[in-house]
Amino acid sequence: MKQFRSFAFLFFAILIKAQAQNGFQANYDEAKVPAYTLPDILKTTTNQPVQNKKTWEKVRRPEIIRLFEENVYGQTPKSYDRLTYTVKNENAQAMGGKATLKEVAIEVVKNNKPLTINLVLFVPNQKKSPVPVFLLINNRGKDNMDPTRAQKSDFWPAEMVIDSGYAVAAFHVSDLAPDDTTKYVNGVLQLYPEQLTANDGMKAIGAWAWGASRVLDYFEKDKAIDAKKVMVVGHSRGGKASLWAAAEDQRFAMCFTNCSGNTGAALSHRRFGETIRRINTVFPHWFAKNYKKYNDNEAALPLDQHMLLAAIAPRPLYATNASKDLWADPTGTYLSVKLASKVYELYGIKANLPANPPGINQPIMTSSVGYHNREGEHNLTAYDWSNFIKFATDQFK
Ligand code: GCU
Repeated sequence: MKQFRSFAFLFFAILIKAQAQNGFQANYDEAKVPAYTLPDILKTTTNQPVQNKKTWEKVRRPEIIRLFEENVYGQTPKSYDRLTYTVKNENAQAMGGKATLKEVAIEVVKNNKPLTINLVLFVPNQKKSPVPVFLLINNRGKDNMDPTRAQKSDFWPAEMVIDSGYAVAAFHVSDLAPDDTTKYVNGVLQLYPEQLTANDGMKAIGAWAWGASRVLDYFEKDKAIDAKKVMVVGHSRGGKASLWAAAEDQRFAMCFTNCSGNTGAALSHRRFGETIRRINTVFPHWFAKNYKKYNDNEAALPLDQHMLLAAIAPRPLYATNASKDLWADPTGTYLSVKLASKVYELYGIKANLPANPPGINQPIMTSSVGYHNREGEHNLTAYDWSNFIKFATDQFK
């Protein structure tokens, strides 16, 4: 028995050490965050200061997009041969007559290879078209976007959005790239096989963002939708994709990133919660191969996530956290948002964000840079959505 106990002890000691070596032991202690230096958002790679929006738009912003393409999310293919769509189902009396439902199959073809994105869209009936739309990148179950509304969920509270006068849409990430370490190739990547071998080739997160842009291509053809007011929304891994989509595709009018954490809205150089090694190990199919160079090597990153947020400026941006979701580093997310607001200032937008994160359930929406830390767990809830709606309405005024 004694022998067994010492054997078991040794076994667990080795296991813990191995986990620590893999960087899997997350730090949740603010006092243990090592000192770090972030790349200056307002200095070009050749060290020139960025003092106005012209230099930002001509030099620094394109540089930042290239840095993220090369090191993190991979290249986003811009060209395709054809985009067509079929309305598979339409119901002008959906939600008890409040909305028109459209189920649309969007087909994109490249090199004779087709890909279909299945969009669920509700447009409010009492509004004169065209209307702004919230588009969710759905990374959870398809039951969250039930077109029949037999199943309702706060992850995509379509009735609430319709009641507030906006259209609401969603597509599922599996149409673009199944969220699986091997099956992710069975989607968009079949249309762009060169991406599979390139070190800076996109993987699942890039594919989901690409999908959001194709839905936007469709919205430009749908007269019920105001394609200049498309708001992209994502939760967690979906929130990483909503940021990348909005940063790259400047047609998105607004971006909502909910509990997006590591390689989403949170700073990577700051060692708190999830790390780059952990995310690249457990989700090797999310980011470009090049990103693995930064496993346990955050200091070498020529970028950080505040630069991604800034690439969305001056378009409104809203980030969130949940108080119990330390894995996603609420403080590191808030700092990132605050740093990004410097770029909004180049456009005359005074965010005036306080130095410290706001209290729980105290949303900040006084400028185009919004933030809240909701009470509770890692999730996308009615509370989050009600703030998104409020923020959007303020911003469109
Ligand atoms: C994991 C992952 C996170 C991600 C989250 C989610 O926790 O480590 O990076 O955001 O899943 O998508 O819910």
